[in-house]
Order: sequence, then C-alpha cells, then structure tokens
Amino acid sequence: MTNPLDVKSSGRINVVLNKAQVKRASTDWFVSEEEQKKHEILARFEKKLSAYVGLEDIKDLVKELYAWIYVNERRKEQGLKCSKQVLHMIFKGNPGTGKTTVARLIASFLHEMNVLSKGHFLEVERADLVGEYIGHTAQKTRDMLKQANGGVLFIDEAYSLSRGGEKDFGKEAIDTLVKGMEDHSTEVVVIIAGYSKEMDYFLSLNPGLPSRFPISISFPNYSTNELMGMLVNMVKEREYVLSNECYLEVKDHIQTVRNEQAATFSNGRYMRNLIEEAIRLQAVRVMRQGNYSKESLELLRSEDFSFQSSRIKS
Ligand SMILES: Nc1ncnc2c1ncn2[C@@H]1O[C@H](COP(=O)(O)OP(=O)(O)OP(=O)(O)O)[C@@H](O)[C@H]1O
Ligand SMILES: [Mg+2]
Repeated sequence: MTNPLDVKSSGRINVVLNKAQVKRASTDWFVSEEEQKKHEILARFEKKLSAYVGLEDIKDLVKELYAWIYVNERRKEQGLKCSKQVLHMIFKGNPGTGKTTVARLIASFLHEMNVLSKGHFLEVERADLVGEYIGHTAQKTRDMLKQANGGVLFIDEAYSLSRGGEKDFGKEAIDTLVKGMEDHSTEVVVIIAGYSKEMDYFLSLNPGLPSRFPISISFPNYSTNELMGMLVNMVKEREYVLSNECYLEVKDHIQTVRNEQAATFSNGRYMRNLIEEAIRLQAVRVMRQGNYSKESLELLRSEDFSFQSSRIKS
C-alpha cells in the first residue's frame, strides 16, 4: 500500500490520497451521478468504510451483499424466485483490528437494505448465554436470540463457550444457538468473533458450526504504515495537527511496540488510546503555557506523547 502521507517541510502532515484510494473511496461501479444516486445506500456505506484503513474483504462483502439484494429486487419485479441466504458470520482477528466496529456497521447496513427489520446490535459474551443450572442456559440463550431478533447478535470471544468441555453448560448454549438460528421464525444475523487461533480451535471442536456461518472474514494485524494512516485520520477527525517530528517519533514508537507486544498488540485501539492520551497531555501543556491561539490549540508535539506503553491501556 502506498503511504498516503505527505510530510511537508512546514512540519505539518498532509493526507494525500493516491489514485487507487480515491477510486476505491468512490463507488467505482457507478459512473454517472444518476447511478450513484440510485445506489445511494451503497455509496454511503462505501464512504463510511473508506474512512477505515484496509478491511478490503469487508468492503467487498458489502458490495456483494448490496448487489445480491438489489438484483433480487429486480428479479422479484420480473416474477422470478428470490433466494434467501444465510448471513451468519465469523470474524477472526487480533485485538483492536475492527471486528466490533465492522459488525455494528453491518447491522445498520442490513437494516437499511431491509434484510433486518430493526438493525440493532446486541453484543454478548459467555456470561450472557450460559446459566448456572440445568435448563437455565437454554433459556438464557433463547432470551438473547429473542432480544436480538431483527438485528445482529454479536458473540465476542465465542470460544469461551467450549471452555469447560463436554459437561460444561457452554455446549448447551452452542446447541441452543444453532437450533435458534435454524428456526425460521427468528430473523437474526449471528456474528461470532474472536482471536484467530482460538476461533479455529473452537470451530474444530464443533464441526457442525463452520457450515452454519458461511461468511468468514479475517482481520489481519495492521502494518506500521496502516496504523500511521489510522492515526492521521484520527488526528484530522478530531481537528488536531501533528508536527512532522512528532509523526516520525510516533512511527518509531509503533514499530517498537508492535515488535514487543506481538500477539497482544491492540492495533486500532492502541492508536486511539495513544492519540486520546496525547490530547489530554497537550491540554495540560497548553494550559500551562497559556497560549490559546488556534495554532497552539491544534498542534500536537512529541512532548504530548508519553510513549509509555504501560500507561496506554490496550
Ligand atoms: N481499519 C481501521 N481503520 C481505522 N480505525 C480502526 C480500524 N480498525 C480498528 N479501528 C479502531 O480501533 C478501535 C478498536 O476497534 P474494535 O473495537 O472494532 O476492535 P476489535 O477487533 O473488536 O477488538 P477486540 O477483539 O479487542 O474486541 C476502534 O476505535 C476502531 O475505530
Ligand atoms: Mg471487539
């Protein structure tokens, strides 16, 4: 990927989108303005997604889902059969790679496309599904499916359901879930998410599961350049400006932290926490200096970054 950053000698960072990115950010299927308007929902979601670095598989999935739903409507007009599809998904990836963020976006996309009647997002974990006595788990899991009806049920760290082996109530939660997903009276998209290795192990323990989740997306770790792209977007969105020197120091720091933390590095969340801490430290510096000019309020300097990874919660 080409680095979208142009470090100007003025000490400011300018975001320069290269041609490929501009093309991707626009709805490249539809050339005329009229076509763009006709496919306004897709154009809007592609624009939202273009604010995220990488995530090419998700960008393709949204396009695919849109085309399928749109073509189905045209088929209906011609009196042809419209297929229903199972849209349950598996999201695999390390911390902070965007799984939850994307799942929320998918919920609202499917709502706007009339696939989901409510489009709400219900995030649950083991404790929400697994009960403490016989019969309790099935009831809890069914309740969650009911609450999620019309929206997305997002099960984070899904592998924790098979933590305790055969005798654990987690197994009952999985069985109830599978049964509920196949019950045609429920209209819910279930997304199970978690770290890649654990998810693969979980799916291997439950051979009936993978085929029930036909859409599987991997969220790879971001490269240093991609993380810096995220940082620049976050800075811009919050109406701050990074000094040139600061950009290079953050980049060095990110390279080090990625090596040090390897499997536990929290990608986008780390970048968000880094920038939010810098904003707090900048505020302290600005107050101390008492300079409230626009430039001073905007500028983030190296000294505003503590670079102590232990202080930045992942
Ligand atoms: N590709 C991306 N571009 C820009 N920001 C991103 C991207 N991926 C993640 N982020 C940001 O990183 C933060 C964490 O993302 P999110 O909570 O979706 O990750 P996650 O994969 O669900 O993490 P976890 O596995 O720890 O729950 C959010 O602020 C999100 O906006
Ligand atoms: Mg998450």
